[in-house]
Amino acid sequence: MNKNKYGPWVIVTGASSGIGKAFVEKIAAMGFNLIIVARNEDKLHQLKNSLIKHFQIGIKVLIADLTTEEGIHHVIKQTEALEVGLLINNAGREDSNHFLEINKKDHTQTIDLNIKAPLLLAHHFGTKMANRKRGGIINMSSIVAFQGVPYISNYAATKSYNLIFSEGLSAEFSKHNIDVLAVTPGFTATNLASVYDFKGTPFKPLEPSFVVTEALNALGKKRVVIPGGINKFLFLSGKFLFSRKLNTTSFGMVFKKVLRKIL
Ligand SMILES: NC(=O)c1ccc[n+]([C@@H]2O[C@H](COP(=O)([O-])OP(=O)(O)OC[C@H]3O[C@@H](n4cnc5c(N)ncnc54)[C@H](OP(=O)(O)O)[C@@H]3O)[C@@H](O)[C@H]2O)c1
Repeated sequence: MNKNKYGPWVIVTGASSGIGKAFVEKIAAMGFNLIIVARNEDKLHQLKNSLIKHFQIGIKVLIADLTTEEGIHHVIKQTEALEVGLLINNAGREDSNHFLEINKKDHTQTIDLNIKAPLLLAHHFGTKMANRKRGGIINMSSIVAFQGVPYISNYAATKSYNLIFSEGLSAEFSKHNIDVLAVTPGFTATNLASVYDFKGTPFKPLEPSFVVTEALNALGKKRVVIPGGINKFLFLSGKFLFSRKLNTTSFGMVFKKVLRKIL
């Protein structure tokens, strides 16, 4: 990834753990300055302290709840003076259960974090990138984005938004020299996936660092990247062999199995 192509600062939402933290670690080693955003102040400061020991880069910590207007406003205000060349819309939340067992507030927060925040941040930073005629946006989607999935119906629909949003923006923003990428991993070993029990299934969660390497390698070359062989297989068989209904049924069987302690 080239600094001249994007710009000196990269903003990563959901940087305190999992895939977001792995993005930060990889991008710090490339010499970019970083704006790291999440709610957990301790974890972000620990991450900053460990990075500045190894890399001579600027790191700005922003504590923000991105489900709130104040959180989004704080990010926008605190980055005004910085040239953000790459926006990584990674923060995300998932509730896994029977749809009616999840309360409306949690469902709504998932929409605010997974849909509204990436939309508002892409609009804000995208405007500045378009004016500078360079930039990049990575949106974290998921393999569940390609069909409806029981027990994570709302979450899968938000990830579908991330995918469709990225595809449209990618085509629209090419005239501004802004690369847009959707990343669609399957199960990845992070806090978000800690509710799943993979015993008795063929699934082995991906490592966050693998997902990040695939994403950064694909940026500027593809609109959508599917990390992991099993996920590519699921996508291709879903597209060419099965009906959408059968895809939803088979994903439902997988989630019923891995969520058997909750359902
Ligand atoms: N793990 C998987 O199997 C998997 C598969 C496909 C796609 N994904 C996607 O990958 C992305 C990263 O998830 P992950 O797996 O790395 O999970 P994770 O370890 O739980 O990380 C989620 C990140 O989002 C932040 N976050 C949560 N709520 C927030 C809020 N209200 N405001 C600001 N930040 C918030 C968390 O930080 P704080 O708690 O400190 O705020 C954390 O840094 C998500 O978009 C997810 O949908 C994950």
